[in-house]
Amino acid sequence: MSKEKLIRKFDRQARFYEVRRKRKTQQEWREKLISCAKGRVLEVSVGAGANFHFYPQDVQVTAVDFSLEMLNKAKQAAAETGVQAEFIQSDVESLSFPDDSFDTIVSTLSFCGYEDPYSVLGAFQKWCKRDGQILLLEHGISSNRIIGQLQKIVDPLFKKAVGCHLKRDMLQILQLSNLHINKMEHYMFGAVHLVWAAPNKI
Ligand SMILES: C[S@@+](CC[C@H](N)C(=O)[O-])C[C@H]1O[C@@H](n2cnc3c(N)ncnc32)[C@H](O)[C@@H]1O
Repeated sequence: MSKEKLIRKFDRQARFYEVRRKRKTQQEWREKLISCAKGRVLEVSVGAGANFHFYPQDVQVTAVDFSLEMLNKAKQAAAETGVQAEFIQSDVESLSFPDDSFDTIVSTLSFCGYEDPYSVLGAFQKWCKRDGQILLLEHGISSNRIIGQLQKIVDPLFKKAVGCHLKRDMLQILQLSNLHINKMEHYMFGAVHLVWAAPNKI
C-alpha cells in the first residue's frame, strides 16, 4: 500500500481514535507510562492525542503524525490539557532531528504500522539523550499459541482494513534493537507490552 493511501486510511479513522482514547484499559496503561515523561518529549504517531491527558504539566511535547486529521484531533486534546505542544506533519520514517534532542521519546500503538520498525527504534536511540528514556506501549503477536495463530491469519485483512499489522513480534524487535530495557509489563495474553527503556549509547 502506498504511503498516500495509508495516510488517507488514517485520516478517515481519526474520529474513531478520538472515541477510542476513552477506553478504560488503555487509559490505565497510558497513565502508568506517560506519567513518567519528563522534559523535552517527542511523541511519534500521536494519533488523536490519547496520551495528552496523562502528561505531567511541565513537559514540552513535539508531536508527529503523517495524518492531518489525526493531528487536528491531537491539537484539541493538547489544548484541553494545557500541555505545551508543537505539531509536525511528517512520516516518522523520514523524520530527522539532531542527536540527543529529547529527554523522553514516546510511542504508543505505532510500531504495528512502520515499514522498518528497526530503523525507527535506531533513530529513537540517536534522538534520545544518553540519560533519557524511551517509553513504549505496543501490541504484537501474542505469547498464546492459539491467539498467535489467529493473529497470523487475520493479519493481511487487518493491514488492508486498518493499516496496521497484528502479528509483529515486538519482543524480538526490542531485543534486536539493543535498547536498554529497564522494565516491561505484558498484558492481553502477551500481546500488549508496556516498556520503560533507555538508549544504549556508548
Ligand atoms: C494505531 S494509531 C495510534 C495512535 C496513537 N499513538 C494512540 O496511541 O492512540 C497509529 C497512528 O500512527 C500514524 N502513523 C502510522 N504510520 C506513520 C508514519 N510512518 N509516520 C507518521 N505517522 C504514522 C497514523 O496516522 C495514526 O495516527
